[in-house]
Amino acid sequence: MAYESLRPWLQVLEQQGMFKWVDKEVDKDWEIGAVLRMIFRAMDEDSRYGIGFRNIKGFKGGRVVGGVVASSRKMIAAALGCEPNLENIHERVTSGINAPIEPVLVDSGPCQEVIFRGDDVDLTKLPVPIWTPEKDAGPYLTPLWVTKDPDTGRRNIGIRRCQVKSKNTTGILFGAPDRGGAIHHKKYKERGEHMPAAIVIGGDPIQYLVAPARYGADELAVAGGIRGEAIEMVKCKTVDLEVPAHAEIIIEGEVLMDHTEPEGPFGEFTGYMAGGREGPVFRVNCITHRKDPIVMGVISQFPPSESSMIKRALLEAGLKKHLTEDLNLPGIHDVHALEAGGGTATLWISMKKMYSGHVDQTAFGTMGHFGMSYFKWIVICDDDIDINDPFMRDWVMAWRVRPDKDIKTIPNTASVELDPSSFEPGLTQADISGTKMVIDATKKWDYPAVSLPPLDKMRDVADNWGDYGLPDLDELKLPREV
Ligand SMILES: Cc1cc2nc3c(=O)[nH]c(=O)nc-3n(C[C@H](O)[C@H](O)[C@H](O)COP(=O)(O)O)c2cc1C
Repeated sequence: MAYESLRPWLQVLEQQGMFKWVDKEVDKDWEIGAVLRMIFRAMDEDSRYGIGFRNIKGFKGGRVVGGVVASSRKMIAAALGCEPNLENIHERVTSGINAPIEPVLVDSGPCQEVIFRGDDVDLTKLPVPIWTPEKDAGPYLTPLWVTKDPDTGRRNIGIRRCQVKSKNTTGILFGAPDRGGAIHHKKYKERGEHMPAAIVIGGDPIQYLVAPARYGADELAVAGGIRGEAIEMVKCKTVDLEVPAHAEIIIEGEVLMDHTEPEGPFGEFTGYMAGGREGPVFRVNCITHRKDPIVMGVISQFPPSESSMIKRALLEAGLKKHLTEDLNLPGIHDVHALEAGGGTATLWISMKKMYSGHVDQTAFGTMGHFGMSYFKWIVICDDDIDINDPFMRDWVMAWRVRPDKDIKTIPNTASVELDPSSFEPGLTQADISGTKMVIDATKKWDYPAVSLPPLDKMRDVADNWGDYGLPDLDELKLPREV
């Protein structure tokens, strides 16, 4: 089922108990951020829901929603139209990567129902929250940024933080230099031209799920492939770009090349505040929006968050496809990007090791896929281990790894630019480097039998548990090789 825009999606979420409106008056400068944080700090994953605010102090009629894209696996699966398990989620994402549907241009769209240009532009009229109150430099949008490659005309979309600085300026953070948007920015800078850009706020949830995809794919075509229907686009009013016609709000302008301003700090997906340095400025020419627009935020900051959930769902799917279909590596069983690492610091892979060098080949194939900044920890174990089970991961590290032989460190690699452990005092952004560690946690020879009763005996006992007159059991959890 394809959702045309944010509004029908919110209705479906509400019907399924995954979205609730709040009518109490709230302060956008601290309260919205603090309330939304409860989704991830005080709810189990299965009971999480997105929250909307429609009584915002000082913004009569304004609405803000958050946690409506990726608060839980159940929500992501509902957006993708599949069962709420990782295998199905990965399959749906891969189906869009393998069979993209190009967006189509239409003459008009609801995102341009109301238009403000020139002196009428005023970003401060939008209720933009402060996500980490008293610590962020100001209100931030977490929108999709649309740009085009000046050489090829190819479009890129990426989620990037966007600090609202004045009526007509915002900041933007180009983190990793190998990302599509950052490459466009560099090319425009080399030409000495301002970069046309458009910000998209609120839309079909799939657009947000695929936005952190790798350079080379038109993420909107991948989103179309997953939806089974092309995304409708309209031409911007003041820049040569197209944007999703059914978005809530579009902000058009140029990223300036002739001056920078302080940007940040902002609460980041690593769990730490980051930034507070010079950054590019986006000058706004035009704001278009639906009637009564909704400001949609994606919850990032301390993990778990929508950011870690989105990155996890998409990066795992893309990596599985890369290893198995593009590199044609045999034996890859499962991949798991841990949410505590924001989905980009720690990666586990389980595989059936088939030949010498197979583990290294998998580790280096992984680094090649993401660029050298993602995943400073890569742990590879045998396919008998459920790498989604934290206890089994600890068990494997305890008994299948010999540190002096099984661990490879690769120094002076790129680092996730927001990783505080790479940011030694006194270093500049350009000097940052990191380390990769590859841990071969596979068995190197035949191991003794596992010290548990045989599988058939335990199953027999579990099946007949009632006979023992004891309270009910929970799920029977067993390592696969019992
Ligand atoms: C909620 C959220 C916020 C993000 N903010 C930024 C950001 O401010 N700067 C950045 O470089 N990447 C940010 N990212 C990661 C980018 O979306 C990711 O690197 C993506 O690959 C960029 O798109 P591109 O490769 O098409 O340019 C964010 C991701 C998420 C999920």
